[in-house]
Amino acid sequence: MTDHGMPLGIGIVGVGGIALSHMAALRTMTSAQLVAVCDVDASRAAEVAHAERCEGYGSVEALLADDAVEAVIVCTPNMTHEALGVQVLAAGKHLLMEKPLAMTPAGARAVANEAAERGLALAVGHSHRFSDQSVAIREVIDSGEIGTPRFVRVVMNGGWIWPGWQAWVLNPALSGGHSLHNGTHLIDLASWWIGEPATSVFSVGQHATSESLEIYDYLVMELGFANGASAVCEISRGERPRSASYLELTVVGTKGVVSREWDAEGVLAWTDTGLTAWAADGFAERVFVRELEAFVASSRSEAEVIPPVSAAIHAVDVAAASETSLREGRTIEIGASV
Ligand SMILES: NC(=O)c1ccc[n+]([C@@H]2O[C@H](COP(=O)([O-])OP(=O)(O)OC[C@H]3O[C@@H](n4cnc5c(N)ncnc54)[C@H](O)[C@@H]3O)[C@@H](O)[C@H]2O)c1
Repeated sequence: MTDHGMPLGIGIVGVGGIALSHMAALRTMTSAQLVAVCDVDASRAAEVAHAERCEGYGSVEALLADDAVEAVIVCTPNMTHEALGVQVLAAGKHLLMEKPLAMTPAGARAVANEAAERGLALAVGHSHRFSDQSVAIREVIDSGEIGTPRFVRVVMNGGWIWPGWQAWVLNPALSGGHSLHNGTHLIDLASWWIGEPATSVFSVGQHATSESLEIYDYLVMELGFANGASAVCEISRGERPRSASYLELTVVGTKGVVSREWDAEGVLAWTDTGLTAWAADGFAERVFVRELEAFVASSRSEAEVIPPVSAAIHAVDVAAASETSLREGRTIEIGASV
C-alpha cells in the first residue's frame, strides 16, 4: 500500500546505459526515491548501489522480495521485457517498462493483461512524448490552430551507432530490429499527433554503416491511417559524420502547419492568418523527470498513465508489422499479418 505522504519506493532492474538517466532524474525528485537496484552483473549492481546509497541485488527475485520496492523500472535489453514485466507485476509492483513494451504483439498483451488483472500501473518509456517540443506540438494540435492533422513527418537521424549500441541491439533476435528498438518512439509520436492508431505500414531500410549489419540502421516507415492521414517516420543511426544529429518534426493540418525544423530552437505554427512561436528546447534531462512524475501519479491512481497502455501495445504492433514489411517488401495491414 502506497503512503501518499512518502516518496514512492523505486527499484531499477538492469543498471546499464538508460538506467543512468532514470537515476539522475530520481535524484532530483521528492515524489519518488530509488531504494534498490539489481543487475545480472552483481558487481555492477553493488557498485551502483554504493554510489546511489540504496540496496544492491544480484537477482530480480531478491529485488522483488524487498518490501521497500513499491514500483519497478525495467531497464534491461528488449528480449527480456515480456518475462521480466510479468514477473514484476506478479510480485505486486507497479511497472515502468523501458520501450518497447515487449518484442511481439502477443508479448505486449501478456504484460498488459497481467497489469490489468492485478490493478497495477503499467507505463512504457516512450520518453519522446515528454520533450518540450512534442508537448508543444500536441498543444498546438489541441488548440485547433492547424485544423485536423493530415500528415506527420518525424525525422530522428544521428551518426552514433558505434559505440552507443550494445551488441544485443545489433542482433535482431535480441532487440527486435530497428523498428522495435528505436522505431517505436516515432510510431508513438505519429499516432499521438494524428490522434488515432495506424492501420498500415510500409518500410524500407539500408545498412548504412556496414553491409554486414543484421539490422537496418537507416529506416523509413510510412504509416497509413483510417481517416486518410499518413505519416513518414525516418530514423537513422548511420549518418556521416558520426557527430551528425538531425531532428525534424512536422504536422500538416487542414488549416496550418506546426513544425520543429532541424536547426530551430523552438516550435513554429503557421496558418493563413499568422505565425506563432512555441518555446521548446529539446530533449533534456527533465524529460525523464516528467516521465517518472507521470508514472508516480499513475501508480497512486492520481492520473492516467502516459502513454495509455493501448498506445504502447499499438507501437509494438506497428513495429512488428514494419519488420515484416522490411522482410517481404510489401505494405502490411496492422493486426493482419503480424
Ligand atoms: N527511452 C529511451 O530513450 C531509451 C534509450 C536507450 C535505451 N532504452 C531502452 O532501455 C533498455 C536498456 O537499454 P540500455 O541501452 O540501457 O542497455 P544496456 O545494455 O546498456 O544495459 C542493460 C543492463 O541490463 C542488465 N541485464 C540484462 N539482463 C538482465 C536481467 N535479466 N536482469 C537484470 N539485469 C539484466 C545488463 O547486465 C546491463 O547492465 C532497452 O529496452 C532499450 O530499448 C530506452
